[in-house]
Amino acid sequence: FTLATVPASAQQFPSRPVTVVVPFAAGGPTDTVARSVAAGMEKALGQSVIVENKPGAGGTLGADNVAKAAPDGYRVLVWHIGMSTSPALYRRLSFDPLKDFEYVGLINDVPMTLLVRPSHPSKNLAELVTWAKANTDKATLANAGLGAASHLCGLMFQQAIGTQLVTVPYKGTAPALADLMGNQVDVLCDQTTNTTPQIKGGRVRALALTAPSRLASLPDVPTAAEAGLKGFELGIWHGMYAPKGTPKPVLDKLVSAMQAALASPEVKNRFAELGSVIYPVAQQTPEALQKHLKAEIDKWGPVIRKAGVYAD
Ligand code: MLT
Repeated sequence: FTLATVPASAQQFPSRPVTVVVPFAAGGPTDTVARSVAAGMEKALGQSVIVENKPGAGGTLGADNVAKAAPDGYRVLVWHIGMSTSPALYRRLSFDPLKDFEYVGLINDVPMTLLVRPSHPSKNLAELVTWAKANTDKATLANAGLGAASHLCGLMFQQAIGTQLVTVPYKGTAPALADLMGNQVDVLCDQTTNTTPQIKGGRVRALALTAPSRLASLPDVPTAAEAGLKGFELGIWHGMYAPKGTPKPVLDKLVSAMQAALASPEVKNRFAELGSVIYPVAQQTPEALQKHLKAEIDKWGPVIRKAGVYAD
């Protein structure tokens, strides 16, 4: 392998701005992660890195958009755990998570918070469970569609308490959280990357954290186990993807730019403030993301199929 075998376009990458596709609405948790990383990557790449929101179908529309983009490194995707749950959730998924992408690396992991609207009568998780069971026909649960972290969390919550709520889908949890703050919906389970400022500001009530221990950034929010729901734990991991066939030298530049971004104090501080843990650098790699994705598809496939939730 010599440099001469690499196309000139790959050697010069990037000679124009790079676009990071976020498969949910602007201002939400995936957007927050992607914008932090994109800003850090700009310095390393010496080019603008633009975030483009392509919401719809729980994140699968944005993923499809990148799967079918030119494999030149100029269009990449930041998506979460949904990449691993979507094959079981969608009978006719238009892309294959294990065949249609090159893997840049794992980014971060973030827990979720179970929230109720500010005017909700429930002051703790036990009260919410009692209320939900007594109000099954009108208790509303917001989410960002099939494939969203909020959907998966809502599914786990309903299974754990043995009660169905009325689902209200959004294009992302940014608009869902806005409606929760406005008392338009009752319950939302959303990542702390989105919910931390609103919880701290008292604009929503957090009843449980889906992590084994409390967060330093949200010391007053009890873990689900403390609140009475043992086993209600969920961490939302994120990765960066490029279209299949992206040349190795281009992919290498994306990997080192992502790693540089994740090593920057700005990104480290921002993620820590929002309760999110950055993966160790050894896992910020194509191999680690591919391996993790496979394991997660194997983990969630049976769980989702057992729950019988899917879109045709
Ligand atoms: C978003 O960015 O809106 C979220 O990640 C949606 C979700 O998966 O719940």
